Amino acid sequence: MKKRFVIILSWAIALPLFAQTPVYLNPAAPIEDRVEDALQRMTREEKVAMLHAQSKFSAPGVPRLGIPENWMSDGPHGIRAEVLWDEWYGANWTNDSCIAFPALTALAASWNPDMAALYGKSIGEEARYRNKNVLLGPGVNIYRTPLNGRNFEYMGEDPYLAAQMVVPYIKEVQRNGVAACVKHFALNNQEIYRNHINVQVSARALHEIYLPAFKAAIQQGGAWAIMGAYNQYKNQHCCHNRYLLNDILKRDWGFDGVVVSDWGGVHNTEEAIANGLDMEFGTWTNGLNWGKSDVYNQYYLAQPYLELLKNGQAGEDVLNDKVRRILRLVFRTNMAPNRPYGSFGTQAHAETGRRIAEEGIVLLQNNRNVLPVDLSKVKNILVVGENAVKKMTTGGGSSSLKVKYEVSPLAGIQARVGSVAQVTYVKGYESPAEGEQDVKNAKKPEAKTIDAKALRAEAVNAAKSADVVLFIGGLNKNAGQDCEGDDRKTLDLPYAQNELIAALAKANPNMVVVIISGNAVAMPWAVQAPAIVEAWYNGTEAGNAIAAVLFGDVNPSGKLPFTFPARLQDNSAHAAGDYPGDGKNVTYHDDIFVGYRWLDKEKIKPLFAFGHGLSYTMFQYGEVSVNKSKITAAETITFTLSVKNTGTRDGAEVVQLYISDKKASLPRPVKELKGFKKVYLKAGETQTVSFTIDHAALSFYDDAKGAWITEPGAFEALVGASSADIKTDVAFEIKR
Ligand code: BGC
Repeated sequence: MKKRFVIILSWAIALPLFAQTPVYLNPAAPIEDRVEDALQRMTREEKVAMLHAQSKFSAPGVPRLGIPENWMSDGPHGIRAEVLWDEWYGANWTNDSCIAFPALTALAASWNPDMAALYGKSIGEEARYRNKNVLLGPGVNIYRTPLNGRNFEYMGEDPYLAAQMVVPYIKEVQRNGVAACVKHFALNNQEIYRNHINVQVSARALHEIYLPAFKAAIQQGGAWAIMGAYNQYKNQHCCHNRYLLNDILKRDWGFDGVVVSDWGGVHNTEEAIANGLDMEFGTWTNGLNWGKSDVYNQYYLAQPYLELLKNGQAGEDVLNDKVRRILRLVFRTNMAPNRPYGSFGTQAHAETGRRIAEEGIVLLQNNRNVLPVDLSKVKNILVVGENAVKKMTTGGGSSSLKVKYEVSPLAGIQARVGSVAQVTYVKGYESPAEGEQDVKNAKKPEAKTIDAKALRAEAVNAAKSADVVLFIGGLNKNAGQDCEGDDRKTLDLPYAQNELIAALAKANPNMVVVIISGNAVAMPWAVQAPAIVEAWYNGTEAGNAIAAVLFGDVNPSGKLPFTFPARLQDNSAHAAGDYPGDGKNVTYHDDIFVGYRWLDKEKIKPLFAFGHGLSYTMFQYGEVSVNKSKITAAETITFTLSVKNTGTRDGAEVVQLYISDKKASLPRPVKELKGFKKVYLKAGETQTVSFTIDHAALSFYDDAKGAWITEPGAFEALVGASSADIKTDVAFEIKR
């Protein structure tokens, strides 16, 4: 009663105040009213000023009206350190050390939308506390080739999985009054030639494979911002691309937010005005480490735009549309009522990161049950590999972070083992040292010869007397590995790791290989190494999460969000020799057959399939049943089965539903993921799992009609533990 009285009283005091307040300053007024009110108070100069950067990561507000600046930050797995106003170098603040969350491949590997929500909530809180109102992420470009240096920032090869995971991330980020800026729209599937390469792809592949995660981000996630990609489509840069921005994004999808350019992705004033760009950043830079100084006034959407407006060559309507969008962003974020304050670098965020990491780590192989390591039997543990100690939260390009702390795998293992067993570390291999990213006048590391043979001999020798060998290697964030700006050159592990792993496996049969990467790698030694784990880039708590899985405190439940092909030529982008194009164009001849869709079609056995991941327990799938065997295109259909944990440990299984269209007027993939559920089962427990789908899961995009089509005919629902491990299926039909 008392509380109610206080609320009424405060409104009684506030209302007359609001009555005199301009509408745009009234937090209780509808956003669109605030936008219109602010817009009509602004001068043309003030409007144009909002459209382009004033520093590396900010754009002006309207100081005269008390409308604040817009501040952006990378993204996508932590809040980047402050850089200088007009330079890429770190500003050396002492209060900007963040929590690094697992990279997005790791999140996708959890196959758990609840983890995506937790992730979004936490990173949103970090962004909010640091006063950033736009988070430059998440990234949902489809994993087309394992060589792409930025795959670790994305959510894998399947549009359905990426769409399911991106939506909760965005919703939770934005609850903080921070806009998620989904990137890079679109077709930015390789780093090589990224600034100009023109992607030639069918409308069908565009709509079925490359756009669904973006569409879900906008329509279901309600993203308030999106970033244009560097590359071209239909010979137009994606940051000012009529088809992608005006036609698809703004017209067809009804996007009312802001299109932000990638940093240095704008090339032309007229196109930028006409083709849907709203905010321009990083012009005349490569987005990472070079740039012309203090040229903001010369940006394509700065003085040149003003000139065109003044001499009547550009209209006010288009300008007003852009400004409305930016004002909407401001009222949704910086000037939103009841905006929470956020929190930064907290233990709670670190623990969230660890939980996500533990759910995303994938047990790829576990012959002879080498894992989990049993500390009641093992007394002498050898850890080998540079990645056991190498920092992985720095480097890699724009996602590089300054972290509060980072637990290395070795530190995690040592902390977990304590004095119960002896842990010895030898390097085994070494990568060439690189200068620090984002540091002014960073010292070039001294050139040093790495004696791979000697390093290997030392490790092999130590392996002979160990009870178990934990090899921790993979890729890293050096240039040419999992790093923005370039692609990998080969599927193979770098730094002579293949030879080392084979030799270690020969020296000691109790061999565990932990790969840290954001990409598939070749594993010619997979037959020799009994246990293989994919542990991703897991951020601040990486080492503790790895140790928890290796020693069995956590039962692994991650599943691969992309295929590990046995050979590079088994991947669709490489099979037809498309990749990387001729420098001007790259043609996607694989069309809709990307990832497992390609391997299914070509009947190629992967090294590890999309959706694959083992557990320390076992699951038994019952037979799937269907509620109706025939439906109309307007009806939904439900598939049900039971899943039992038949082992002795509690665990979680990701039950996957694939749909197969038996006959269609256009070629269709053998099967496509259309549902998944992560079920937690106690040892011996059985649960019923069901999936309800509608026509959207059964339809395909018809280029000729420019529309999604649901065709009558025979279908099959396939339920399994991976795309290559279907356990049960049932037929159904769409009636004519
Ligand atoms: C990247 C973006 C990033 C931007 C700002 C660009 O190089 O492509 O993903 O958000 O830089 O750092």
